[in-house]
Amino acid sequence: MRRHFLMCRPTYFAVDYAINPWMDPAEPVDVARAIDQWTRLVKVYQDLGHDVDFIEPVPGLPDMVFAANGAMVVDGTVLGVAFRFAERAAEAPSYLEWFARAGFATQAAKAINEGEGDFLLAGDTILAGTGFRTDPAAHAEAQELFGRPVISLQLVDPRFYHLDTALCVLHPTPGSGRSEIAYLPEAFSPGSRRVLERLYPTAIKATARDAAVLGLNAVSDGEHVVLPVQASDLARRLASEGYEPVPVDMSELLRAGGGPKCCTLEVRQ
Ligand code: ARG
Repeated sequence: MRRHFLMCRPTYFAVDYAINPWMDPAEPVDVARAIDQWTRLVKVYQDLGHDVDFIEPVPGLPDMVFAANGAMVVDGTVLGVAFRFAERAAEAPSYLEWFARAGFATQAAKAINEGEGDFLLAGDTILAGTGFRTDPAAHAEAQELFGRPVISLQLVDPRFYHLDTALCVLHPTPGSGRSEIAYLPEAFSPGSRRVLERLYPTAIKATARDAAVLGLNAVSDGEHVVLPVQASDLARRLASEGYEPVPVDMSELLRAGGGPKCCTLEVRQ
């Protein structure tokens, strides 16, 4: 239940380009507020007993706070990332170097993939998004490197451009009696919806209201679910299943299209 996370302080946070529909460079951002919200998130994890490591933010990389996009780590093996947009390209080597220096086995990305933005480990299965960022070729790369089955899921709504904005893994083990995942069906193609129905017949289906505040961009340790405070329907559903919702306000980071999960990269030793 104890987790290990890597996070990046939003010291240089800004919205000066738009690579998803949430970003509007004409709207001012409050960096101090972003730092404050992020600092609270760190504290929430630490209070839950999780370990948090930090990567040094780099000036000129305003989205580097979204550590989920920095890598995918399973069993101490790291798949590096390759970003879809040039604006974020320079984040990739920073993250890969952090892991190399920390002694992890690393492999640089060949195809475009945005780390845990589009790869989510659910039990022994890797759920993998494509459609906006991660290239399907990266799904095969991940399967080969990690030796886990990868299920490709097609995202269709540009507001939910990463898998972790449309789907949240709640429980690491199947058959726990609780829903293993929560997701927004409308964010997926018809075929992918049927795949999710088949694999997770008892999943929580999020409401459009929850998804519209990035409620699914949540981090679960199997017991506590850290989620945006605005996602009240989802919090109620989780509580009714015996999960403990832990609400956080990430409204300033939402201006860049991110929530708690985007700020959090899981380090699986
Ligand atoms: N502005 C960032 C982008 O569009 C936000 C990334 C959010 N990260 C995530 N894991 N969904 O790339």
